[in-house]
Amino acid sequence: MKEPTSIRMKEPASVVSQNFIEWSDSLSIGVKEIDDQHKGLAGMVNEMSEGIKGGWGKEARDEVLTRLVEYTKVHFATEESLMTISNYPGAHAHKRQHEQLIDMVGSYIKKYNEDPSASNYDLLFFLKRWLVEHIMKDDKAMGDYLVKHGTVNQGQRETFFGRIKKLFGFGNKKLASPAKA
Ligand SMILES: [Fe+2]
Ligand SMILES: [Fe+2]
Repeated sequence: MKEPTSIRMKEPASVVSQNFIEWSDSLSIGVKEIDDQHKGLAGMVNEMSEGIKGGWGKEARDEVLTRLVEYTKVHFATEESLMTISNYPGAHAHKRQHEQLIDMVGSYIKKYNEDPSASNYDLLFFLKRWLVEHIMKDDKAMGDYLVKHGTVNQGQRETFFGRIKKLFGFGNKKLASPAKA
């Protein structure tokens, strides 16, 4: 799939300037909670890009990759919960893609641990390609279904979970601010 070439940055602050992955409305799936998480993921991949360009060491690499994996797992759990409660017919195949991504990233990390001098660009480019393609194809299909079947409120473009969180006054601060302070 061709990657978007002309994308303007509006928010959030966690997505650094001169981005490796640039956010645009073309990446939006129409579900605010998921879009916000995707922006967070893009921001962390951009953080990784900046780290590599700056010649980061093992400690910084481990910290960013650990945070990226944790955040990705939370994000995948959010999507999978929404697919489950909406009886999304593509849930199984979609979840399998998530599992494959986690496995692939784990393989890269294992390789880097075995050879700390290895370049990290292969994982960086893999993540960009996987994320953009998965968001534009699989997550958009899921988002369309969630809106169509009322799991998310189209007017507010907010998920059922988002409304419940507001109602009971809880939320995940880590998701709201994925970049390390
Ligand atoms: Fe997904
Ligand atoms: Fe996603």
